[in-house]
Amino acid sequence: MLVQFPPMGVYETLFKFADATNKYMGDGKTHPWAQGYPITSQLPNGPALPDSISLNTISDLKYPKATGEIELRTAISDYYNEHYNAGITPDNVGVFAGGRPGLMACMSFLEKDICVALEETEYTPYWDMFRLLDRKVHFIPSNADNNFRPSDQDYDIQPVEGTSRVFLLKSNPCNPTGVALEPERLKKIVKHYSQDGRGALFDEAYEFYNDPEPMSAIQYVDNIDDTDIFIAGAATKGLQVPGMRVGWMIAAKKHIELFRNYSSIGMGGVSRASQLYVTQLLEKDRVAHARQAVCDFFKSQRERYEKGLSDLGFELYTGCGGFYHWGKLPNGLSADEFNEKLFKHDAGILPGYLCDMTRDGESSSPLDNFIRFSFGPLDAGSYEGDMEILSKCV
Ligand SMILES: Cc1ncc(COP(=O)(O)O)c(C=O)c1O
Repeated sequence: MLVQFPPMGVYETLFKFADATNKYMGDGKTHPWAQGYPITSQLPNGPALPDSISLNTISDLKYPKATGEIELRTAISDYYNEHYNAGITPDNVGVFAGGRPGLMACMSFLEKDICVALEETEYTPYWDMFRLLDRKVHFIPSNADNNFRPSDQDYDIQPVEGTSRVFLLKSNPCNPTGVALEPERLKKIVKHYSQDGRGALFDEAYEFYNDPEPMSAIQYVDNIDDTDIFIAGAATKGLQVPGMRVGWMIAAKKHIELFRNYSSIGMGGVSRASQLYVTQLLEKDRVAHARQAVCDFFKSQRERYEKGLSDLGFELYTGCGGFYHWGKLPNGLSADEFNEKLFKHDAGILPGYLCDMTRDGESSSPLDNFIRFSFGPLDAGSYEGDMEILSKCV
């Protein structure tokens, strides 16, 4: 009765790992290098993560508001106004149960005459979303030939046949490559996609994970109500709480109203307890502290693993953001062969082909020898042991 559909690539890898090891990657002493979550405990020099939240049993157990609770929407708009001079109000904020539901809602509501522009190497579930929604796509080159760094011209796109408008979907910093647009380029692209007949969704899950500092496209948006620009954020990575399942969209008020309507049909709002927890994390001084700690800690981890992986012969293409290394395996190994070896050590990486947006799921991909190595969940003490396993398996 139901149309069959496979799991998203990261989960497919987790399920393969579970079949091979009888363990869930991330539990116990496993090495979760395929996982996309950050450490969920206090970072060196970072703020503590609250371990409780108090609930009023009369008012806090009711249905949450469809757009999101006003406390959280206010905290989010204050945050963007403080750090990026965004000029937004809580009416420009819609809350979702994590980052992905916001992305999926936005993609589902795009009108039929719109084609989506997307880099060839991108965040795994974008591929599933396009298959499910059957959208017309224009691929922006992002491959080993251009170092996974598209040029300015590559972002200047005409609608593909049968469509009349273009919508850019882009993770920035990019998952899996860690490549982030420099401020001047980001500004140019925001201006370009703020014009009539154009729109863009900047997926900023890794906003805090950028060297030298966090960045957001919202900084370059003049008046979001006059645009079809969407900024996706989430408490998942920067605030270190993937389990809270809280994400948000910043957009024109009319689009947020549509998301409210969507929530009323398909989501019923987001857990109020989660929203109250995340509101605490966005307190002004705390969030400024968290931004700095995330930036500093992950920069040092990025540099350590860069050296370690390069010394083992990996050809790295990683940018200055995110918490992944992106590169080609040495010795002609394929990512699947590498995982077979790693699974024996309770470790695993994300095979690069799962980030290939052009793949058809059957024939080979130019990213078969590429891997995404996640250092997000690793604490500073795991490095030596990690390198030992990696060196045995290459
Ligand atoms: C680029 C990007 N966007 C959005 C998300 C969404 O995160 P979640 O749905 O887990 O909140 C992720 C998580 O891996 C991501 O990497």
